[in-house]
Parts: sequence; structure tokens; C-alpha cells
Amino acid sequence: MSFFSEFLKNPQMTGAVAPSSRFLTRKMLAPIDFSTTKCIVELGPGSGCFTKKLLESMRPDARLFSIELNPDFVKKLRQIKDPRLTIIEGNALDLPGLVKNRRVDYVISGLPLGGMNKLTVATILQGVRKVLGKGKYVQFQYSPIHHRRFSRMFNISVAFVPINIPPALVYTCTAKPRVSPS
Ligand SMILES: C[S@@+](CC[C@H](N)C(=O)[O-])C[C@H]1O[C@@H](n2cnc3c(N)ncnc32)[C@H](O)[C@@H]1O
Repeated sequence: MSFFSEFLKNPQMTGAVAPSSRFLTRKMLAPIDFSTTKCIVELGPGSGCFTKKLLESMRPDARLFSIELNPDFVKKLRQIKDPRLTIIEGNALDLPGLVKNRRVDYVISGLPLGGMNKLTVATILQGVRKVLGKGKYVQFQYSPIHHRRFSRMFNISVAFVPINIPPALVYTCTAKPRVSPS
């Protein structure tokens, strides 16, 4: 099984022809303060390029929960043997239920949001906001199609990574404080 064959089987769900480049991987992980981080959730790990780099930098007592929908990728990810890693075969739509009541420091996402409908994207983003608290959500995209949705729900900063197939935008998001009704 290869990333490209998974793309051919299901282009919309896989969302890319190749795994993210090391340049994109570095940019995705740059916002993480590994010295204090205890819990990371990864959405759409695919063949595990972020997963492996996360594990290289995580503290011995930190945990990584990687949620992947494609059973072929899940099989491959389960070959990574690390007691800090839990591979969950599931849908990012169910994020809050999948991580139960854990306090999540970072959500790192390779989900192909660009190919999903608005309701699905809104549900995923609400789930991310629910589990995150004060943490950060880092998401790459190949187009700014959801820019307004991100900026309505989060405070965002955006970086461009040209060396990737295709070039990508990295959104680093923190929750906006909720306005309480007066
Ligand atoms: C663009 S690939 C990114 C893979 C990897 N993170 C990378 O950067 O190379 C998107 C991944 O998200 C997974 N995926 C798509 N929809 C999903 C969903 N609703 N829940 C969980 N994973 C999903 C796909 O199976 C695929 O592995």
C-alpha cells in the first residue's frame, strides 16, 4: 500500500497525492512547546509523517492520540510501536467523544477540509474548539477556501509553505474568548 494508491482509491478522503514534505511537517510542528505538552491529538495522520516527528520530540510522559478514518492507513500506523501513541480508527467528526474528557494541548490536523461540505467542516471545527481549551489547533490547507470560517471561530495566523506537493497554507489557531450574554 502506498499513499498514492490510497489517493487513487479515494481522492476526496485522502486529499493529497503524497505525504506532506519535511518543510510542511516542520512548519506544522513549530507552534508546539514540547517542554510543557502532555496531550496532543492528531487528525488525519495518513502514513504517519507528523506522527513520527511528534513522537521524536514529545516528553516521555506525554500522550499522542492519532485519529484516522482509512483502515489501510490505520494498519500502517499501528506498526509504529510507542507506548505514548494511541491510534484510533475513527472519524474526526466524533473528536470530543473519541478523546473523552482529556485536556488537549494541541490538535495537529492534516484533514482534507477543502473537499468537505460546510456542515462537516463546521462540526469538526466546533469539536476542535470544545477539546482544546487554551491550546492551539494547527491545520494545513491547499487553498484559503475556509479562511473566513477559521477567522470567525479562532484567532489565526497563516504561513505559506511553497515546498510541498501542492504548496500549502498552515493555519495556527487559538480559541477566541467566548462573549457571555449581558
Ligand atoms: C491530506 S492526508 C494527510 C496525511 C498526513 N497527515 C500528511 O500530512 O501527509 C489526509 C488524511 O486524513 C484522513 N481523513 C480524511 N477524512 C477523515 C476524517 N473524517 N476523520 C479522520 N481522518 C480522515 C485521510 O484518510 C488521510 O489519511
